[in-house]
Amino acid sequence: MLNGKKILLVISGGIAAYKSLELIRLIRKNGGDVKCILTQGGAQFVTPLSVASLSENPVYTDLWSLKDETEMGHIRLSRDCDLIIIAPTSANMMAKMAHGMAGDLASTTLLASNKPIMVFPAMNPQMWENAATQDNIKTLAARGIKIISPATGDMACGEVGKGRLPEATEMLESLITHFQNNKPLAGLRAIVTSGPTFEPIDPVRFVGNRSSGKQGHAIARALSDMGASVTLVSGPTSLKDPDDIKTIRVETTAQMLEFCQKSLPADIAVCAAAVADWAPEQYASSKIKKGNDDKLSLSFTQNPDILKTLSTPSSSRPALVVGFAAETEHLLDNAKAKLTKKGCDWVVANLVSADNPAFNVDENQVYFVTSKTVEEWPKSSKDDIARQLVERIAKHFANKAFKIAAE
Ligand code: CTP
Repeated sequence: MLNGKKILLVISGGIAAYKSLELIRLIRKNGGDVKCILTQGGAQFVTPLSVASLSENPVYTDLWSLKDETEMGHIRLSRDCDLIIIAPTSANMMAKMAHGMAGDLASTTLLASNKPIMVFPAMNPQMWENAATQDNIKTLAARGIKIISPATGDMACGEVGKGRLPEATEMLESLITHFQNNKPLAGLRAIVTSGPTFEPIDPVRFVGNRSSGKQGHAIARALSDMGASVTLVSGPTSLKDPDDIKTIRVETTAQMLEFCQKSLPADIAVCAAAVADWAPEQYASSKIKKGNDDKLSLSFTQNPDILKTLSTPSSSRPALVVGFAAETEHLLDNAKAKLTKKGCDWVVANLVSADNPAFNVDENQVYFVTSKTVEEWPKSSKDDIARQLVERIAKHFANKAFKIAAE
């Protein structure tokens, strides 16, 4: 239920911190990945070793860690997740957040974050009721931070009242609900092309390329996670079909085009496939034998351009068409030319070089190119690039809906 979701869990000081250990276990059991920041207070109640063992990830504790901060650890931590949760959230932690303080790793990461944040306050009932705490809660809620109210009951301090951290299963439910509700692309249909295409020469040989399909598959997953109904048209890859996504496996460019067209109408098309531009003019129905000649000549014809076909103005053109450009030189000029030549709306461009092989690797460095802007996105995982692109797509459709509503 949390398949592939990346959660950053901040554990601040409180006797209830033991429940966060169980929460880590439940997140992982439900398919999520969890990284943890342990505050100084949190570390008084649970040990870094338990947190690391259960999360199977390093535990982050120190803003001034030479190792983590040479890679700008707090910025990375704040960006490399889908959701940040703080469980338990102490009164002190809320006060720091409300006032934008950044004196330790947890508060600095929270201040640097552009991700949704969910807090699970837990404290003594008097501390919860205190006007200072209540004011801080109002401030945080007004900033869009999701506050999950504490439960009422017996407290570890012997008092009875509101301030208990919910049980781990209840916290897990809040996370699942968050991801179910956070679906800005619900109701929209998307087509994604992914992987290479293979053009057969004879029954045993083909012309193809090294594309792994990682980027296209990640985009399909990210679109689906945000609620879009996705059809993934994939060339031959070793990746398994993503869960809950309609995946059509094809081999040739002609088949890829055929199934893209059959999947119309759609609101979004993302052409991430590394399509073979050329196909052998003739297919030999039996294996070509070496014979006496030490040369083999093949002639090729150009394949149909799927991106261009989908971008052509028509009643079935998706409202947003995104292409990719892999170039070995003049990256931005070529990417801008591709926008016009293909008629798509956006191009995600990457320079293929020794520093950035782009194919068959997990990380990539891309430029996001529209008719008006060029943005350089930092080198990151293909999953992150997918998420960033899909967040853009969601924003685009939200702006469009707003314009229509305002008209
Ligand atoms: N593409 C496509 N169908 C093709 C060729 C490319 O849909 N027959 C799409 C790719 O999926 C990608 C974009 O077009 O989104 C750019 O592909 P690329 O091969 O880089 O561009 P080309 O059109 O081949 O241009 P050139 O050969 O000049 O680089």
